Formats: sequence, C-alpha cells, structure tokens
Amino acid sequence: IPVEAFDLVIFGGTGDLARRKILPGLYRRFRDGQIPDDARIVGAARSDMSAEAYRAQVADALNEVLPASKRDAESVEAFLARLDYVGIDATGTHGWPDLSQKMRAGVVQAFYFSVAPALFGDLAKRLHKHKIAGPEARIVVEKPFGHDLASARDLNAMLARHFDEQQIYRIDHYLGKETVQNLMAVRFGNLLFEPLWRNQYIDHVQITVAETVGVGGRGAYYDKSGAMRDMVQNHLMQLLCLIAMEPPAKFDPDAVRDEKLKVIRALDPVEPGDVVRGQYRAGADTPSYRDDAENPASRTESFIAMKLHVSNWRWNGTPFYLRTGKRMKARVSEIVVRFKEPPHSIFEEDTGQSANELTIRLQPNEGMDLTVTIKEPGPGGMRLIDVPLDMTFAEALGEEAADVPDAYERLIMDVIRGNQTLFMRGDEVEAAWAWTDPVIAAWDAREEKPISYEAGSTGPEEALILMHRDGRRWREIG
Ligand code: BG6
Repeated sequence: IPVEAFDLVIFGGTGDLARRKILPGLYRRFRDGQIPDDARIVGAARSDMSAEAYRAQVADALNEVLPASKRDAESVEAFLARLDYVGIDATGTHGWPDLSQKMRAGVVQAFYFSVAPALFGDLAKRLHKHKIAGPEARIVVEKPFGHDLASARDLNAMLARHFDEQQIYRIDHYLGKETVQNLMAVRFGNLLFEPLWRNQYIDHVQITVAETVGVGGRGAYYDKSGAMRDMVQNHLMQLLCLIAMEPPAKFDPDAVRDEKLKVIRALDPVEPGDVVRGQYRAGADTPSYRDDAENPASRTESFIAMKLHVSNWRWNGTPFYLRTGKRMKARVSEIVVRFKEPPHSIFEEDTGQSANELTIRLQPNEGMDLTVTIKEPGPGGMRLIDVPLDMTFAEALGEEAADVPDAYERLIMDVIRGNQTLFMRGDEVEAAWAWTDPVIAAWDAREEKPISYEAGSTGPEEALILMHRDGRRWREIG
C-alpha cells in the first residue's frame, strides 16, 4: 500500500549511511510501488552541487550497493527524478532559504538527521527558525543517541526545545529487522509460549550478536564507544526488552514502549564479576583491534559477555546472558530460551531426558527451532533424544516471502506513516544509559583492561566460564 505524498530531507545526504542504507532502501520501496510519484527526497549536505550531480552520485551508490537483480534502469531513472539537492551549512545561514523554498505544503514532511549528534541542535534550531519544519513535521535521528546519560539528556532537551516527542523518531535499526519484530508476533500471537514465559518455567535466556567484521575504518568512533555503548546499550537492550516485557494492551507506540521501559528500569546493577570484556588480537591475516583503532594502548572492549537480572515478578531468578563481539568465529544473532527440566522424570535415570530449548535465529538463516524430547525409535527400551522442530522462514514461506525488506526500508516508511512503535522514546534511551553508565564508570575507575581473544574465535574463555560456573553453557557460535 503506497504511503502518502512526502518531502523527505536527508541531512548528510552524501554520507555513508545515506549511500549504503537510506537511499537504496528508499529506492527498493519505490520500485515496490510503496512510494507515490509525488514524493520528493532532498539530499542536503555541506558541498554545493546541482541536483543533477547529486542524482549521478545516488545512481552510483545504487549500482554499488544493490545487486543487479534488485534494480532496473527504468525504475532507477524514475526514482532519481524524485531527488533534489541543496547545499547547506548546518551551523550557518547558507542554503536554508533555499531549502525553505523547496518544501511543499500539504504533504508529510520528514527530516532525517544522518549527521554527527553534535549537529542535531544546530539543525533543529535552524529548521525552526526558518519555519521549515511545522508542528506536524517528523525528525529522524540516528544512533549513537548520546554517549552517556548526561549527553542523551542534552540531546533530548535540545530536540524538545523545538519539537514534540510525537515528532521524534530515534532509530535503533534492530527494531526494523523483520525477525526482531517477529519476537513480538511469536510471544503475543500464540497461546503456546506466553503461559510458560516466566521464571517458573524458563531456566535462562541467552542473547548473542556475534559479528565477523572488525572495527577497521570506524576505529576513531568505535574506540570511544566499545561494545557496551555501540551494541549493548541499544541493540541488545532492545532485544532483551522484547523478550522480557509484559504484554502491552495494544500494539500501539506508547503501550509497547511503556512496557519496554519497565524492563530497563527493572534491571539490577551489574556485578563486576558478571561481566567479561574482551579485545581481539591480530589473526592470521587480520589486524588487531589496537591496530584497527590506531590506538596501541586502547582499553576499549570489542567483545562483551554479561549476566543480567531483570528484578520483577516475572523474571526474578531467571538470568539473561548477553554477548556480542567483533571478529568472532561467525556472524550469528540469535536468542536462546532455555526451559527448565520437567519437575519429575517418570523414566529411569539416564534416559537422556533434557530441557526444551527455543532458539530464535535473527540472522542469518532466519527462523526458529524448538528442541523437543521424543523417544528414540527402536526396540532398545525408553531411550529419549532431543530433536529440533525446525522452521527456517525461507523454507516455510518460500524464498520470495523470506526476502524481507531491510530494516531501514521498514523504518523510513513508518516515519512517513507516522508510526513510532519501532522507534525509541526519549525516556527509554535515557533509562538505558542510566543502567549503562555505572557499568562503564566502574571499568574506568579500575582502569580495567579487556582480555585479549583470538580473532575468529568465540571470545575469551572467561565468557564460557561465566556460564559454566552456573552449570550452563552458551550455544555454539557457527
Ligand atoms: C551498528 C553498530 O549499530 O550495528 C555496528 O554501530 C554493528 O558496530 C552494526 O556492526 C550491526 O548491525 P547489523 O544489522 O549488521 O547486525
């Protein structure tokens, strides 16, 4: 279903995110017929160039990013015709009257801040001052949303000076992933899971986001962030919220976000002994973290594993183990929900009975499997084995249905539709920082060095011990 007509201004329109994600995403939506003909996309960036030159840049980006099967000359041409450009100075006056003139009345207006957070305030102020963004306009902001609680509060306050919370769309692209949205469908669209979804029946939950890439090329940013700020405070926290939250009364932005916020607020402070920080060393043909970050003495973590407690009625006593890292053995994002063993075994000891395990594979090989204990076929008495009830989306739904839109496609269309459900509310981001800050402050105070781990491994051995000491173990990566 096509969205309404819109004017979308992308500040940072020539930047990396615009080239890799935003514009290719918009093109794919256009090609699918979701973007109406009278929509307009205005790139805005510091350098002056003609709209023609910008279109040529975007054409190059589409060629580079999209495989040939995902584009065709005719629709690329038609898409490029929707593009315009304005050279603008975010901190001065240049270009603003020009932009003001380009905006049309009577269509949805959205402004995408795909720029460094230091410029958010300048952009907000100028959009307001030049009367470009009215009370209905939507503002989209990228992560990182702050560096800690104080800076996130400053950003929120700066935006709030000119815009209402209902106008602000804070992106966490994990929420745009189909498989992440599916977490809510699985939990709240089935009767099967929800009655068991609590400490009484769930032994523990594991959330893994492992990547094979290093931080090369982004070292300057990453070295000031580390895995805690780059991944845990946002993406892993959002996954944790979707697994742990109470059922909202409606699938409506505030109902969903209220419940997520309660989870974050119920998190206990992390005990120092419940965190393992790692940093990758050089591999056979990959540089070390310190080389990638160009900081020979860096204490920043590229891996983190931790045990968390959600202290509320539903989860007390059921730990959540989180881990994420760069340069790991395989690229895997998945959630494992390990149920408890049945309370009493009617079979003899040693039959092989174990606990059910639900694995939700977010990427790759998107799908889920549930291990179920059955009788091992054969005459040998009651021997039990675990078999997976395995559902791979591509198999269950067909390759085409499983060829899901990229997270950005979904999120940008939601901005135009005015649906904030998959965006973070200001208080949610602040609560996540309020929980993160003391953990980082404790490392800084101790000048703690991360443990070095081999590139292409599953992280430091201490991360395995974190679970072993509780009589549990991580699911294998890769
Ligand atoms: C980004 C982080 O937000 O998410 C990156 O800054 C990380 O460090 C990326 O690589 C992971 O996203 P995805 O979609 O590839 O899992």
